[in-house]
Amino acid sequence: MYVFNMGTQLSIDELLNSEEHHADPYPLWKRMRHEAPVFFDKKLNAWLLTRYEDCVEAFSNHTDFSNQLYSKTLGVVFGPTMLDKDGHEHVVQRRIVAPEFVGKRFEPYYEAIERNARNLINEFPDDGVVDLVNSFTTRLPVNVIVDMLGMDQSDHERFHDWYTTMMAGLSVKDLLESQFSSEKQNLGVLAHQQLAEYVAPIIEDRKSCPVGDLISKIVHAEAEGQKLTLTEIQAFISLLLVAGGETTDKGIANMWTQLLLNPEQLDAVLDDQDLFDAAFSEMMRHSPPVPGQLRYAVNEVTFSGVTIPANQAVYIQLASANNDETVFSDPRSFKIDRDDLHLSKERKMGHHGDEGRYGHLGFGLGKHFCLGYEMARVEAVMGSTLLCEKMKNPRLAPGADTAFIMKSGTRSPKEVLIEYDQA
Ligand code: HEM
Repeated sequence: MYVFNMGTQLSIDELLNSEEHHADPYPLWKRMRHEAPVFFDKKLNAWLLTRYEDCVEAFSNHTDFSNQLYSKTLGVVFGPTMLDKDGHEHVVQRRIVAPEFVGKRFEPYYEAIERNARNLINEFPDDGVVDLVNSFTTRLPVNVIVDMLGMDQSDHERFHDWYTTMMAGLSVKDLLESQFSSEKQNLGVLAHQQLAEYVAPIIEDRKSCPVGDLISKIVHAEAEGQKLTLTEIQAFISLLLVAGGETTDKGIANMWTQLLLNPEQLDAVLDDQDLFDAAFSEMMRHSPPVPGQLRYAVNEVTFSGVTIPANQAVYIQLASANNDETVFSDPRSFKIDRDDLHLSKERKMGHHGDEGRYGHLGFGLGKHFCLGYEMARVEAVMGSTLLCEKMKNPRLAPGADTAFIMKSGTRSPKEVLIEYDQA
């Protein structure tokens, strides 16, 4: 049951655009789940869904919803990818590459994760203060992807710049507020073109001389007799950087921030580092790095008794769903021993876990469920275990700014300042 105490207050419209909401969206989402769970945001020109069951339904409904809006954000910057495809076309594109990112086929890449994490950690001082964001989280995911692709280590910096510029060109806000092509978007397009030119000869080379890296595998992979074209591979590489870089970066930062803000939970994890796995799941529920996903309603759809007409943008506020008090008790508390959350590897189609445990929606759900869910988890858990080898008694540094910031469709703190002793 949704219970919310309404005093005298500003309207939802006013609050949606307030600084207060940008600083902490959870109180307003709570009010919306109770008062207006299906809300048309005039400024954004999109319907906002905030209840868990509604978000699950929207993610799982591949008949009335399309992913075509991505062709106006990601598609403009790096061309068509699986993310903006629907139906059979999406299934085939995904099947070509997906096997490389899970299970036995993904295990060989663990070594790249460990090596790149160690390289970054080796640069840390023996003791003192480190900003985990600057020194670790913004670097690790991109370095790992570049490494997996078989690119030269000396090009890490270039890839980092390309991906940051592409990321900046993908604003959901720009897309929904108007259809113009912004300066940032133009720069994003340019960054993709540079990256595409750089990888083109490597892709050609791997066709005749495969060397066991991810590009060699993608070049030769096929499903239903289809392979990715050169343009599709170039777009997929950009998608990997954008979808797997910023997100995992923020995921590790969010997990450490919540642990540092909850010292008793951090102590439990430091005592038993296997618990990083549960901490990752709880982070994905409590503070998901990607708080919402867009869909386009091609038909009329009804949620919580409200009918959304056809041809409308719908914003699935998964972070609100993850904090729905009718599903997760005391949702704003970060607890790695929850008995209402499915606490290990995610399930693509299953939001209802066993024994009353529910899945978080941090990786989405259904056919577009995150391709890199295993990779993100391994990077966060292995990376954090290696960080603990270096940092004894990690704690929040005095004066650390732990405020979460909403930017380019992600939510995370700008820094994670950790003070630690010599191991
Ligand atoms: C904590 C880190 C991550 C988060 C929070 C995250 C989040 C998401 C979400 C919410 C979706 C669903 C999109 C939708 O339904 O429209 C998604 C899809 C996707 N993710 Fe991730 N992701 C993460 C890490 C990664 C990594 C490491 C990769 C690299 C392989 C990756 C690649 C993708 C791709 C390619 C898709 C599109 C899948 C499809 O359209 O079928 N993600 N991700």
